[in-house]
Amino acid sequence: MKPWAGRFEKEPEKKVEEFVASISFDERLYKEDIKGSIAWAQALARAKVISEEEARKITQGLEEIKKEIDKGKFPFDIADEDIHMAIERALIEKIGAVGGKLHTGRSRNDQVATDLRMYLKKEIKAVNGLLNNLCQTIIEVAEKNVDIIMPGYTHLQVAQPVLFSHYIMAYFWMFKRDFDRMVSCFKKMDFMPLGSAAFAGTTCPINREFLAKELGFNYISDNSVDAVSDRDFILHFLSQSSILMVHLSRLAEELIIWSTQEFSFVELDDAYTTGSSIMPQKKNPDVAELIRGKAGRIFGNLMAMLSTMKGLPLSYHRDMQEDKGGLFDTIDTLKACLDLMSGILSTMKINVEAMKRALEKSFVNATDAADYLVRKGVPFREAHKIVGEMVKHCSKFNLPLEKLDLEVWKRFSFHFEEDVLEYIKIKNCLNRRDSYGSTAPKRVEEQLKRAKAILKRQKEWLS
Ligand code: ARG
Repeated sequence: MKPWAGRFEKEPEKKVEEFVASISFDERLYKEDIKGSIAWAQALARAKVISEEEARKITQGLEEIKKEIDKGKFPFDIADEDIHMAIERALIEKIGAVGGKLHTGRSRNDQVATDLRMYLKKEIKAVNGLLNNLCQTIIEVAEKNVDIIMPGYTHLQVAQPVLFSHYIMAYFWMFKRDFDRMVSCFKKMDFMPLGSAAFAGTTCPINREFLAKELGFNYISDNSVDAVSDRDFILHFLSQSSILMVHLSRLAEELIIWSTQEFSFVELDDAYTTGSSIMPQKKNPDVAELIRGKAGRIFGNLMAMLSTMKGLPLSYHRDMQEDKGGLFDTIDTLKACLDLMSGILSTMKINVEAMKRALEKSFVNATDAADYLVRKGVPFREAHKIVGEMVKHCSKFNLPLEKLDLEVWKRFSFHFEEDVLEYIKIKNCLNRRDSYGSTAPKRVEEQLKRAKAILKRQKEWLS
């Protein structure tokens, strides 16, 4: 019989039972649910709503149930509806009628709001642990290849030379911001809802501060209606996860392009690629492609939850049970993608020769040739036009700028002198990009130092 069966004359239809049940997916909240219930029993005992002895029995029963679930020996049953009622049913079966005292002054509404916050706080730590590993991997890859020069692109057209280490470190900063966003998301959900009961507040004189402390919350919620109605913390997490997936997807796309035969800037490790069932020569970047592809479902989970919430008046509605599927899927997907991306990066090989070849045939130093003229007093717009014409000339003869004789340079502008050839050497182009945060090797070195200090701070947050 259902715990709520009192006012009903018959049992729900089987298909109704199946439709409303969340046990198949919310069972993963069992640790939080049991921890919350043990703290609740203690709070009830402190408030003298139940005796110490009753609280002890309840606690012991719950601990046994936890062990059974840990071992996979707990009989989950769709008839229990959700994890909260499954555990309560098992508790009453185990310790008898006293188990029925646990739910005094509490509702599944504040219970699920508490479980979810506890669970998500734990998972954010896990996500950030993986983000931190990824940040560390990027620093390692950058340091290992610190001097390699590659052409940088805008519009996917060759633009200017850049250190590979500088380029890849751009992703470090994106993931660092993702880490920070997750920290802020963590802080915003750090409010303990228990004591809100169904929505209006509990009649039991429980100590909410005690409960918060027991359950690892820094604050208690200020409004019981808000506490049970709020799913902002899930929306917040799903939004931050979507931004994080944008970053992962862009990096994945980068690697997919770089590993084409046409680019060949990197070779992905066999362990992170797959073959074709028909074309024997193929080595496909499927893992990177799937990371890119899975961004779609993460955005979808956010859209689904936004749509679920937007029309709901306060307070709790069963619609909100729909928060879990997308949330759990996002957590699982995110964790897998983060872990795999670290694997791809730490095992890939960089093809220095291919980058060099691409640099040679692509006028990456054209901006610098114009800069040279600017230093001689030529207005930038004019310099831009002169070098543009030189590029047109070189393209006709399939020559890089540096292969032109000085005499030809001078034909385009008498300001060009012999030192221009030294000036436009790629190495010098890099060295001159020397403002804070630019690609000059010594700036990249500083950047790496700052990044390592951040890594340390991130680790501290995790511990
Ligand atoms: N399984 C429900 C959920 O996940 C728990 C809360 C149910 N509350 C209720 N009043 N029916 O949302």
